[in-house]
Amino acid sequence: MRRALSYTVVGLAVLIWRMWPGLTSIRLPDFPHGYYSNGEWSTHCKVIKHDETFNYCEDAIFWDHLDRSGKLKDRQVLISCDPGRKQWNTVMGPLLDPKPHGGLWVYSPGKGKGKESKPKRLSLKGYPKGHDFHPLGMDIFPSHNGNASNLFVVNHARQRTFVEQFSLAPHEPTEAVWIRTLDSTYFVSPNNIALTSPTSFYVTNDHLMTRRLPKPFGNVLPIMESLLTLPLTWVSHITVNENAKTKSMIVEHAFAAFGIPFSNGIAISPNGKHVAVSSSSLSKVYFYTRDPENNKLTFTHAVPLPFSPDNLMFDDEGILIASGHPHFISLVAVGANKTDAVAPSWVASISPREQLGGKAALSQEYDTLAPVSASTKVRAVPSHEVETLFQSNGSFFSTSATGLRDSKTGALYVTGLYEEGLLVCAP
Ligand SMILES: *[C@@H]1O[C@H](CO)[C@@H](O)[C@H](O)[C@H]1NC(C)=O
Ligand SMILES: *[C@@H]1O[C@H](CO)[C@@H](O)[C@H](O)[C@H]1NC(C)=O
Ligand SMILES: *[C@@H]1O[C@H](CO)[C@@H](O)[C@H](O)[C@H]1NC(C)=O
Repeated sequence: MRRALSYTVVGLAVLIWRMWPGLTSIRLPDFPHGYYSNGEWSTHCKVIKHDETFNYCEDAIFWDHLDRSGKLKDRQVLISCDPGRKQWNTVMGPLLDPKPHGGLWVYSPGKGKGKESKPKRLSLKGYPKGHDFHPLGMDIFPSHNGNASNLFVVNHARQRTFVEQFSLAPHEPTEAVWIRTLDSTYFVSPNNIALTSPTSFYVTNDHLMTRRLPKPFGNVLPIMESLLTLPLTWVSHITVNENAKTKSMIVEHAFAAFGIPFSNGIAISPNGKHVAVSSSSLSKVYFYTRDPENNKLTFTHAVPLPFSPDNLMFDDEGILIASGHPHFISLVAVGANKTDAVAPSWVASISPREQLGGKAALSQEYDTLAPVSASTKVRAVPSHEVETLFQSNGSFFSTSATGLRDSKTGALYVTGLYEEGLLVCAP
């Protein structure tokens, strides 16, 4: 009896400890209307809007055009949007109607010279009729000397989640040519992609138990998996064998990392030696060293964040930009289409201390300029320093999902899962 009791107490303690990041974010902190780390937000930040199909964007990536010598010539932004997300969201629910499709967009910041450039929607040439398109995470290989780039996009289709392969050429940047649909039994709930070559990539699986499970399991188990921060998800490495003899041999699968609670975003550092994976339920980013020979990953650090990180990207300097949701309860309310629900945004940089030179000292007093400092929510760690780049209570820009920083111009691009348009802040 006594033993059973002590087991229960220990069990509860572990449970509460595991749920801690979720529990501490019940109270909504006093976020500002807007905050940008490189200037007054109201003059340095603007939201680029188009029409209602350029809403509810999840991922954004840079599409680099390199010249013959490998030098950066042009950099465009590709964006995945799904205005039907409130009817179809296989990660958070609901699963009401998969019919209204999402789309891919290209935005050329350099073009226009003073005139505002407009985002353009890609046509999906050759895309199979009747195949739903709900884009989520994606990645593209840079174009070299004008050649076409391979683009891989996670697609939350009706029956399953697939990865779609497209080809996109700089001379026709608004026409993505569909190549094939990739499927695998290991694609339980693919979320985001990081390319390791033009034909291979890492892909995160955000849940083991998904919304697609039959009722009532699909309504309960994925939520339990998230709330209890169960470490049941993984990162796969996929090689596409374009010359495979049979269809089932096209996708070659290998596990790259296991035991991550709610793995969501993934990114590879510019030198190819580090990989970062966000754990949304644990509010941490996991860092791994990567062996470029065989794509094996070795865990090195976990960095706690003051929000549930969504997508990740490294800038050209190797600093990780994480974007996410500081108040999960409001995000769920927005996703459920509750009247007047608003969810805040938080974007931060995560810099390796060794790279910060003189500023490297570990202090628990950090991120001192942000209206809501990260230091009020998480302790500093020896390996990395966290600094707020953008914050909003959601009235200016809500539900930040991806933050991209262009080290060449300093510009910061942010998507909002349930927001209109694309946020651009520039120093
Ligand atoms: C955000 O802050 C602004 C300025 O203080 C305020 O007017 C607005 O109501 C706030 N929005 C939310 C959702 O709290
Ligand atoms: C969300 O609510 C608005 C009105 O508040 C309504 O027009 C819209 O159809 C709702 N969307 C869904 C998916 O329920
Ligand atoms: C484009 O060129 C680069 C560099 O030569 C090469 O790595 C890549 O595979 C090429 N892409 C395609 C789609 O052929």
